[in-house]
Amino acid sequence: MAMTRQQELPAGPRMPSPLQTLGWWKRPTGFLDRCRRRYGKRFTVRLAAQDPFIVISDPDEIKQVFTAPPDVLHPGEGTRILEPIVGPNSILLLDEGAHMTQRKLVLPAFHGQRMKGLEPMITEVAREQIGSWPRGESAPIHPRMQSLTLEVILAAVFGIRDGARLDPLRDSLTRMLDFGMNPLSLLPPARRAPFGRGPWATFLEVRARTDELIYAEIRERREREDEGGSEIINSLIGATHEDGSRMSDVEIHDELMTLLVAGHETTATQLAFTLERLTRQPEVLRNLVDAIDGGDDDQYLTAVIRESLRLRPVLLNAAPRTVKKPIEVGGIVYEPRVHLLASAWLVQHDADIYPEPYAFRPERFLDSDPGTYTWIPFGGGRRRCVGASFAQLEMAIVLRELLRTTRIAAGIDGPEATRRRAITATPARGGETILSGR
Ligand code: HEM
Repeated sequence: MAMTRQQELPAGPRMPSPLQTLGWWKRPTGFLDRCRRRYGKRFTVRLAAQDPFIVISDPDEIKQVFTAPPDVLHPGEGTRILEPIVGPNSILLLDEGAHMTQRKLVLPAFHGQRMKGLEPMITEVAREQIGSWPRGESAPIHPRMQSLTLEVILAAVFGIRDGARLDPLRDSLTRMLDFGMNPLSLLPPARRAPFGRGPWATFLEVRARTDELIYAEIRERREREDEGGSEIINSLIGATHEDGSRMSDVEIHDELMTLLVAGHETTATQLAFTLERLTRQPEVLRNLVDAIDGGDDDQYLTAVIRESLRLRPVLLNAAPRTVKKPIEVGGIVYEPRVHLLASAWLVQHDADIYPEPYAFRPERFLDSDPGTYTWIPFGGGRRRCVGASFAQLEMAIVLRELLRTTRIAAGIDGPEATRRRAITATPARGGETILSGR
């Protein structure tokens, strides 16, 4: 019998797609929790004007998705909207061979030795910034963390701390990154008003200025043949393709922009949420401060960071993987065009895996390391976040420095809800915190 190939997708909410889109954006964690209660560990979400998303949260299915061959699932396709900012060679946008080629060039910048080399700089930045934060008043910690992580990623990428060179770069990049936080401003020009300057013209101007500064940095390093130091730009300048050729200026530019975009807002938000949780959990906070004061903090501090990434993953899902060739996951064959979404939020709040999943209990990670397919705040497989160690190192340094020098308290009563800000899930009030001297 001839039949049209109508794909049977897992059940999911039946409300109209504009309403699903609203729930997805406005109440992201509640929406995911409700869908799982109703439809189980995998379900189909239909967002306006997009092919269906299959949300999965069973660790075996997550493993199948993370380890699928590169020509079967394409995570790069979902991130195209960032292309005007990061450029076409960005590892975020590529798939298959081209992705692996760029990833191999970027990864050495994050090896252990280089991370060690960056530690003194991160500590110095954290100390300076935290020292300058006002004491004794309630204020959202998120914007402070944003300027801290921006300073850290700039110093890590370019290795510069001196104002004359850093200031123009920081100003220009801050404006560029603002466009990344407001992706609507990056819609193709035809979709925007034909009159007036509009955000696109402003964006092009800011980008031209930023590119000029970044290319000048690259050129200057090449001229100095400066490949020493731990900064990421030097690692890229020294990196070679498999045929022995060097990365082009454009490739280096695109990966540097990628690291600046991917590495700054995520880490700031995760730090803000960590403080939001710590200030609501006096016994955890006390244990952490004791560990830091005793100079014996590695184990407990690491557990706090892992638990924060479990309980409040700032990216609720790994990058959506677009199906390019039929693939069977958990007994269902998915046809091309649907997107498979491994949900960090759901698997990390699964009571079968984490007893009392909504409690903040770092002790969970004192005796056991997080599982590859049950703890996925950094995604997984060949797309796993290249900055995962960097982010955790930075979080450890910032928390240590903050708790060594200040007392922290919640600025408002009760927990802060989770709200979406561009693509990240952030504390609704920005993590209202009161700092006082110790
Ligand atoms: C707490 C902070 C961070 C979180 C929660 C986070 C999370 C993630 C997630 C979920 C992905 C997608 C992985 C997947 O779909 O399998 C990703 C990719 C990526 N992240 Fe991070 N990230 C953080 C910090 C950083 C930092 C500091 C950097 C760079 C300095 C960075 C650079 C990247 C890059 C380049 C990718 C793309 C990797 C690829 O496509 O091959 N991230 N990150």
